[in-house]
Amino acid sequence: MFSRTKCILSVVCLNLCLLVCLSSGMSDQEIRRLREEVRGMFYHAYDGYMRHAYPYDELRPLSCDGHDTWGSYSLTLIDALDTLAVMGNKTEFQWVVGLILERANFDVNINVSVFETNIRILGGLLSGHLMSRRMGIDVEEGWPCSGPLLRMAKDVADRLLPAFDTPTGMPYGTVNLREGVPEGETPVTCTAGVGTYIVEFGALSRLTGDPVYEEVALRALHAVWNHRSPINLVGNHIDVLTGRWTAQDSGIGAGIDSYFEYLVKAAGLLQRPELMAIFKQARVAIEKHLRHEDWYLWATMTKGYVTMAVFQSLEAYWPGVLTLVGDVNTAQRIVYNYHQVWRQFGFTPEFYNIPQSEAPNNREGYPLRPELVESLMYLFQATKDHNLLEMAADIVVSIQHSAKTECGYATVKNVNDHTIENRMESFFLAETTKYLYLIFDTDNWMHNTGGSGPHAGSEGAPVCGGGGRLCLQLR
Ligand SMILES: *[C@@H]1O[C@H](CO)[C@@H](O)[C@H](O)[C@H]1NC(C)=O
Ligand SMILES: *[C@@H]1O[C@H](CO)[C@@H](O)[C@H](O)[C@H]1NC(C)=O
Repeated sequence: MFSRTKCILSVVCLNLCLLVCLSSGMSDQEIRRLREEVRGMFYHAYDGYMRHAYPYDELRPLSCDGHDTWGSYSLTLIDALDTLAVMGNKTEFQWVVGLILERANFDVNINVSVFETNIRILGGLLSGHLMSRRMGIDVEEGWPCSGPLLRMAKDVADRLLPAFDTPTGMPYGTVNLREGVPEGETPVTCTAGVGTYIVEFGALSRLTGDPVYEEVALRALHAVWNHRSPINLVGNHIDVLTGRWTAQDSGIGAGIDSYFEYLVKAAGLLQRPELMAIFKQARVAIEKHLRHEDWYLWATMTKGYVTMAVFQSLEAYWPGVLTLVGDVNTAQRIVYNYHQVWRQFGFTPEFYNIPQSEAPNNREGYPLRPELVESLMYLFQATKDHNLLEMAADIVVSIQHSAKTECGYATVKNVNDHTIENRMESFFLAETTKYLYLIFDTDNWMHNTGGSGPHAGSEGAPVCGGGGRLCLQLR
């Protein structure tokens, strides 16, 4: 009797031990060390930008000076504002908000990308506005329905609005911040350039109470879907005056990517189930026509014939979106493949030819993109699978090893030989380092369901100007 109990007990013990051994994963100490390493990466690049490049848009990490790229609006600083908040740097956040309010001026005669200005400038200003109180700023009466960063965001959005004044409701790709759509501007734009506004514009409408932004963004989103092919695929480029597709390749990457991302994120943020319904229909077609094993290829939008068997670095947002819609299993399988590509080169090339396992000519760069890191962050939150931490650690190691320079981090020109070039895009500070930090900072205030807090959920949420309920947490 006694020995049998003992025997059973030892079997139980053995099993427990095996369980513990197999799932022990990365130690808390190592996770904290990686978090601090990422914090160091951010400050190295941020301080380099402030010292050598501000007020230009971007730092040039080899010559250690600045240059304007997407506008002439101190892009990196505005885009990086929320990373300061995520890292809890209140004093710097407050100082930067003051600097932006004092210096930023959007009443200028420059032609800018409507898409890039929205995601980087409007997104940066709105996140900064929403995080102001948490960062110790003495917010004005009426916040979050009013505030200086919100007024600035509205000013920027108003300068983008003329682009949406087209017969289809789909926006032009370029506006002049002072004059509206430039004379002779091409009506051809990419699908992502049409469908990547609803998160920022929706938030702006809910905060200001003016529905126009959400309306134009929705109209553009629906216009893309209304022009889908009979097999429910969307193409790559479209004429915003006629609705004619000018590039009919369908895929989940470059030219299309964030259209899908924004359908899902806005469905949750703005509580619009109709956007999730579109995504679900689109996903069925994507799985049927574009998925081949655990890869997504490119195919003609009309027939679904494969045109290009490539994985693009930009496509790495997809497992994150799948995680957000609850399909964690598929997300795990896909992210595993993408990580294998990372391991092969030490970075993900812009394009990866799947059958040949190589990066095609002129598509061998890695401009410090955030997509894979963002996916790892969502997936780790959903699963707590420590393999994902190891994948994120691989990313830290290669960036530190090959992209770090004296004053910042440089775009990898060629993933085969790790040569670098003189560019550091704003998303390195705004996204890549932020999501890496969030992966390793397991108790960060951003990790919550939005279900509690002063303005959470529907109960007690402020209604801004009658425009709609505020129930959001940006980026
Ligand atoms: C905040 O950022 C500034 C500028 O990089 C830095 O000097 C300061 O040490 C940071 N503070 C904290 C608490 O991280
Ligand atoms: C903006 O683009 C238009 C049309 O291409 C061009 O004529 C104009 O000079 C550009 N303006 C600036 C400031 O570059």
